[in-house]
Amino acid sequence: MSGLHVAIVMDGNGRWARRRGLPRWRGHLAGVDSVRDVVRGSPDLGVTTLTLYAFSSDNWKRPPTEVGRLFWLLREYCRREQEELRDNGVRVTAIGRRDRIPRSALAALEEAEAFTAGGTRLHLRLAIDYSARWAISQAARELARRVERGSLASGEISTELLHKEITRLVPEPDVLVRTAAEQRLSDFLLWELAYSELVFTPTLWPDFRREHLALAIAEFQRRERRFGGLVAVQGSQEVRAAPAASASARRRRLA
Ligand code: IPE
Ligand code: IPE
Ligand code: MG
Repeated sequence: MSGLHVAIVMDGNGRWARRRGLPRWRGHLAGVDSVRDVVRGSPDLGVTTLTLYAFSSDNWKRPPTEVGRLFWLLREYCRREQEELRDNGVRVTAIGRRDRIPRSALAALEEAEAFTAGGTRLHLRLAIDYSARWAISQAARELARRVERGSLASGEISTELLHKEITRLVPEPDVLVRTAAEQRLSDFLLWELAYSELVFTPTLWPDFRREHLALAIAEFQRRERRFGGLVAVQGSQEVRAAPAASASARRRRLA
């Protein structure tokens, strides 16, 4: 799959609910409709990998009732949508820690991963109990293990090797979208976003639809990407010339 990789920090559910005088969880519930619509619309927009920040490792700081509802929603989403996802060629996988996810949510998630494993149109990556700092430290630990086992010399540890371990061969995001007017990363994909275009929108996540994703991609296509070199790559020209070219493909062409 060599199309666009879009990563989204789905933010603003609580504010969406508050503006309507509803409890926060109603915002999370409405946010599921946005996930469904964006997932359905992604392939037609040239997106082949979609990474959604669903629950950060810092979100454990929230009240247990809210956390419980979020995992209930995850479980229901996996159970109810897995058939449609498979029918549409979507492969679901999760990134993040698995050891703290409530058992029934984890079971539904892993069932959806197995059920949709053959999907090739869209790779939907759900970041759950995810922390980029944790992910980077895990990769470092894995390399240390190899050194301990004798399959890697410590002198062989390089940026490239760490990169390979962290990304596990999933291309880096071309675009990061964050909704609800916040302009920060909140420990999301810190390594992988090194050269991604950042697009911030005031739209709250429950109001976000595929049309908003299309606008974010159009914004990305207007940007000029250089990857540290001198050759300017106009996003839109690239995409017109070769629809949905990935960052890695662009870099290869620039090299
Ligand atoms: C994003 O919405 C969903 C999660 C973090 C799980 P928020 O719940 O952060 O909504 P706001 O930021 O309070 O509006
Ligand atoms: C980031 O949103 C996490 C997710 C969207 C899952 P938060 O609302 O938790 O982030 P902060 O607290 O505003 O940085
Ligand atoms: Mg928030």
